[in-house]
Amino acid sequence: MCADQLIKAQRDQLIAILGRGSVENFESILDHLLAWDLLNWEEYEYVKSPRLLSSSSRNLLDIVACKGTRACELFILVLEDVIHSSLLTNLILGNYKPPEKTDESSASPSLLASQTLQKHRPDVVRKLHGRIAAVLELLHRCGHFSKYECVEIHLPIYTPSQQARKLLDLTKAKGDDTAQVLLDYIDSESGPIKSVLGNVCLKYQEKLSSTLAAQSRFLTNYAGTENMCLEDVYVDCILEISNTTGTNGCLRRLIGLEDIFGPDGILNKDAETVLITGEAGSGKSTSLQQMQQLWAAKQAFQDFTFVFVFSCRRLNFIDKHISLEMLLFEHCCWPDHHQDEVFQYILDHPEEIMFMFDGFDELKFQFTDEERHCSPTKPTIALNLIFNLLQGNLMKNTKKVMTSRPSAVTAILRKYLQKEMTLKGFSPEGIEMFIRKCHSNSSSAERILYFVEANPALHGLCHVPFFCWIVSKCHEQLMQNGSDFTPTMTDVYLLILEHFLLHFTHSSQGMNEVLPSQVGAILHLSKLALDGLTSCCYIFSAVQLQEAEVSEEDISLGFLVHSHSASHASSVVNNRNYEFLHITVQCFFAALYITLDDDVGQSTLYSLFKPRQKKTSSFMMSATCIEGCPFYCHQSPEQHENRSETMLQGAKRSNLQITASFVSGLLSGRHRNLMGKSSLIQKQSKKYKLVKKYLEKSIQKHFLSIPPAVGGEKKSMHALPEFVWWIKCIYEMQDSDLAKQAVSKLEVDHLKLTYCGIGPVECTALAYVLKHLKNPVGLQLDYNSVGDVGIEQLLPCLNVCHSIYLRANNISDQGVSKLVDRALGCCNLQKIALFHNNLTDACIQNFAKLLIHNDNFLALRLGNNHLTGAGAEVLAEGLKQNNSIQYLGLWGNKIGDAGACAIAAALEDNTSMLWLSLVGNDIGSRGARALAAMLKKNTVLEELCLQENSLVDEDMLHFAEGLQNNSSLKVLKLANNKISRKGMEFIATALKHNITIASVCLGGNHVTAEEIQKMTRAERRLTF
Ligand SMILES: Nc1ncnc2c1ncn2[C@@H]1O[C@H](COP(=O)(O)OP(=O)(O)OP(=O)(O)O)[C@@H](O)[C@H]1O
Ligand SMILES: [Mg+2]
Repeated sequence: MCADQLIKAQRDQLIAILGRGSVENFESILDHLLAWDLLNWEEYEYVKSPRLLSSSSRNLLDIVACKGTRACELFILVLEDVIHSSLLTNLILGNYKPPEKTDESSASPSLLASQTLQKHRPDVVRKLHGRIAAVLELLHRCGHFSKYECVEIHLPIYTPSQQARKLLDLTKAKGDDTAQVLLDYIDSESGPIKSVLGNVCLKYQEKLSSTLAAQSRFLTNYAGTENMCLEDVYVDCILEISNTTGTNGCLRRLIGLEDIFGPDGILNKDAETVLITGEAGSGKSTSLQQMQQLWAAKQAFQDFTFVFVFSCRRLNFIDKHISLEMLLFEHCCWPDHHQDEVFQYILDHPEEIMFMFDGFDELKFQFTDEERHCSPTKPTIALNLIFNLLQGNLMKNTKKVMTSRPSAVTAILRKYLQKEMTLKGFSPEGIEMFIRKCHSNSSSAERILYFVEANPALHGLCHVPFFCWIVSKCHEQLMQNGSDFTPTMTDVYLLILEHFLLHFTHSSQGMNEVLPSQVGAILHLSKLALDGLTSCCYIFSAVQLQEAEVSEEDISLGFLVHSHSASHASSVVNNRNYEFLHITVQCFFAALYITLDDDVGQSTLYSLFKPRQKKTSSFMMSATCIEGCPFYCHQSPEQHENRSETMLQGAKRSNLQITASFVSGLLSGRHRNLMGKSSLIQKQSKKYKLVKKYLEKSIQKHFLSIPPAVGGEKKSMHALPEFVWWIKCIYEMQDSDLAKQAVSKLEVDHLKLTYCGIGPVECTALAYVLKHLKNPVGLQLDYNSVGDVGIEQLLPCLNVCHSIYLRANNISDQGVSKLVDRALGCCNLQKIALFHNNLTDACIQNFAKLLIHNDNFLALRLGNNHLTGAGAEVLAEGLKQNNSIQYLGLWGNKIGDAGACAIAAALEDNTSMLWLSLVGNDIGSRGARALAAMLKKNTVLEELCLQENSLVDEDMLHFAEGLQNNSSLKVLKLANNKISRKGMEFIATALKHNITIASVCLGGNHVTAEEIQKMTRAERRLTF
C-alpha cells in the first residue's frame, strides 16, 4: 500500500491519535510541514486556527491527502518523528526517505530571510527556547514589535515553543526586514544558547551554588561521626548504561558521571528523566553529591543555570499542600530578593534547570501517574509535584536525574524514563584508590590493601563502597582473624558495632565483654530500627526517640546521626531529627532486635523469610499499617508478635531481604553467643532451626516448581529473584550442612541467573552453596557484574559446572587467567562463554593452554572482545593440539587476515570443530583464501560464519573451489560483505557439485532485487 492509501485507510486512528494528543505535538507537526513546503501559509493559518484538535487534524489530513503520495510519505515521517512511538504501534506506516538536505546553514543567499526562517522552522523554534525575552527585547528596541505585541507573545499561558511560534508568525507578518533581524540574532548565537543572567538571577545562582556546595561537601551518612570531605575520598564508581538499540542486542557500556545526559542509551526520547539505580550502599547518594559539587564548582553541568536537589526521604515529611515555587524556594534555596522574577526565569528557561531526586525508593508512596498536575502555582501534595515533574507535565523540558534501589522501579515509572543506568560500585582499582585516600599513612594503607587482596571474600565485599568504607575503618579487628577467614556481611557489621562501642566506652574490652555491657542501648536502637523499617520511617523525631526509650547516651554511640536538612526553610524549625548511619545499618539493628528479643517468634520469622506474594501495592499496605498502628504503643507479647508480623508486610521488600540476611548471620554458630547469656542461646537455637527450615523449604519449593524438561531438551531453571537472596542467607549462616541439603534436590542441567544483579558478594555465596551440587550444571550468569573479583569467588564451584556463561560481566584478562587456571583442573568444565567483556590478546595464552590440556573441552565463545591477529595466532597453536572443541566463537573481534590465516591453518586437520564464527573481524582476501583452502582439507566443519567482513568477488572464486572439494559444510554465512552478482555466481556454480550445503547466506551484499530473484530461482540454497 502506498502512503496516501495508508493515510486513507487509517484516517480514523490518525485523527484519534492527533486529536487526543497535545497541541504542542500538533504544532510541531505543522512546523515540519511548513519547513518542507508541504503547507503554504494560508493552509497553515487555516489548520491552526483555534478549534478542537480533532477537527484541526481532519482538516490537516484533507490538505495533505490532496497533495499526492510524496506529501503523504513526508507526513508519515513527521508523524513518526513527533508522536511517541508507543502511540503508533497499531498503525501500519511504510518506510520512506526523508527529503534531501540542501543547505545545513540557516542562512542561504538565494532565499529571503523569512523564507529561511520558514525552511528551518523546527530548528528555529528549538533555538528560540529560553531566548524569547531577549529576542522580544531586541525586536522591540529596533522598532519591529510594539510593547503590546511583546507582552502578548510572552504570556505565561503559552509554552516556550508556543511563544517561539507566535514570535515567528508575527515576524512573518511584519515582513522581511524583521525576519532579517531575527535571523541575524540566531546566526550570531551558535550552539545551545543560554541567556545572559540578570543581576537578580545571578545572585540566586550564587546562593544556590554555595548552598549546594556546603550541603555536599561532607559525606552524608557519616557526617555525624567523622568529617569525611567528599573531595578527599571520592572515587569514581562503575556506572553502566544499557543500550538496547545496538545491533548486538542489549550491550552495556561504562560512562562517566558527567556524561549521563549524553545521547548514549536513550530508551525513550520523549522522556526527560535519567535514572541511576544501584543496590544499597553502591554509592548513589554519593554520586549525586559529586554532581552537585561539580556544578557548584563550575566544573561540569554548566548548561544548567539552576540545580535543585531533593532527598526523597525528606520529601516524605512535607505534609501540607505546596506549590512548585514553595518546593523550590522553601525546600531547596530561598531567593533573598525578587522571588517572582527568579521564579519567572525558572519557568521561562526550563532547559536550564536540573532537578535531582535522591533515594526514590525511600518515598513512602509508590509512583503513580494518575493525578495530573500542570500548574506551577497551584498547591498540591509534594509527592504529586515530584511525580508530575518526572512525567514532564510540570516544567517540561527540564532535566531530571533520580537515584533509586532497583526494587522501586516499576513498569509505570519506566514509561517516563529517558534512560536507565546502573551504579555497580568500585572497580578493583577503585577499591585500592579509596583505601589509599582513606588512610593518609601509606604504610597502613598498604597493609590493609594487602590483607583485603589476600582475602577474596573481603575483596568481594569491598566492591560495594559502603562495605569498603567499613572494611577500611575496621581493618584492625578483621586482620586479627587471619587471612584465611571468610567474612560474611554480618561479620563486618558486627565489627562496626564493636568498633563503635569500644570507641564509645574507651575500654580495652574485647567483643565478648563490650556487647553484653551495652545490651540495653542495643535493644533500644534495634527496636527503633525495626519499627522504622516496618513503617518505612527512616528519620526519627525527638518524640519518636523518646517513645522508643532511646536516650542521649544511646544516641552518642554514633549509629544515629543528625538528619541534615536539605532545606533552608526547615532549618528554621528547630527540630533535631536523626537517622541511622546508613539504611543497611538500620536493617542490621532491626535484625538484632529480631534475634535478641524474646517476644519475636515463629510467625515473624516466617513472614520475614517467605517468598514475595502478589500483594496489594506496598504503599497501600504501609499506609494502612501506619494508620492502624501508632509508632509505639504498649501491647502484650502476643499482640506484639502479631503486630510485628503484620507490619513486616508493610516494609520495603529490599530492606526486609537485607534484614533477613543479617538475621541468618546473627543466628549462625559464629555469633549465637553474642550476648553471653545462656537463656538467650536456647531461644536463638530455636530461631536458628526455624530459619534453617524456612530456607531449606523455600529453596526446595522453588526447585519443585521448575517445569519438567520438554521433549529431548535438558531441564533448565531460571532462578526466581528470591533465589539469590536465599543463597546469601545460607552463606551468612555459614552452615555447610544447610548448603548441602538446600541443593540436594536440585536436578537441573542448566541454572540461569541472567540479569540478577550478581556481583562479587553474590558470587561468594553462590559458590558456597553450589559447590555441593551432586551433578554438574551449566551456570549462566550473563549480564551481571561478576567482574574479575567475582570470578575469583566463583572458583570453588567451577568443578560442578559443565558450562559457564559470563557474557557482559566486565571481566578482563586478569579474571580470565584465574578462571582458566582453575579450569585446567576441572574435568567437568566443557564450555566457556565470555562474549562482550574486556579481553585482550594477553589472556589468550591461557585458553591455548586449556585447549591443549583439557581433551574433552567443547565450546569457547570469545565474541565482542578486543582480540587481534596476534591473539588468534596464539589460540591457533592451542587448536592444533586439540581434537575435542566443537564450537569457537570470535565474532566482533579484530583478528584480521593474519588471525584468519592462523585459525584456518589450525583447522585443516582438525577432526572435531563443527561451528566457527569469525563474523565482523576485518577479514579480507588473504584471510578468505586461507579459509577457503581449509575447506578443501577439513572434513568436519558444518557451519562457517563470515558475515560483516570485507570479502569480494574474487574471494568467492576460492570459496567455490573449497566447496567443490568439501563434503561436511552445511551452512556458509557471507552476509554483509562486498560481494556482487559475479562472486555469487561462482558459488552457485560450485553448488552444482556440492550436495552437503544446505544454505549459503548472502543478504546485505551488492546485488539488486532483480538479481536476487534470478539467482534464487536458479539456486534455491542461496539465501538473502
Ligand atoms: N564514589 C564514592 N567514593 C567514595 N566513597 C563512596 C562512594 N560512594 C559511596 N561511598 C561510601 O559508601 C557510603 C554509602 O554510599 P551511599 O550512601 O552513596 O550509597 P547509596 O547507594 O545511596 O545507598 P542507599 O541505597 O542505601 O541509599 C558513603 O557514605 C561513602 O562512605
Ligand atoms: Mg542513598
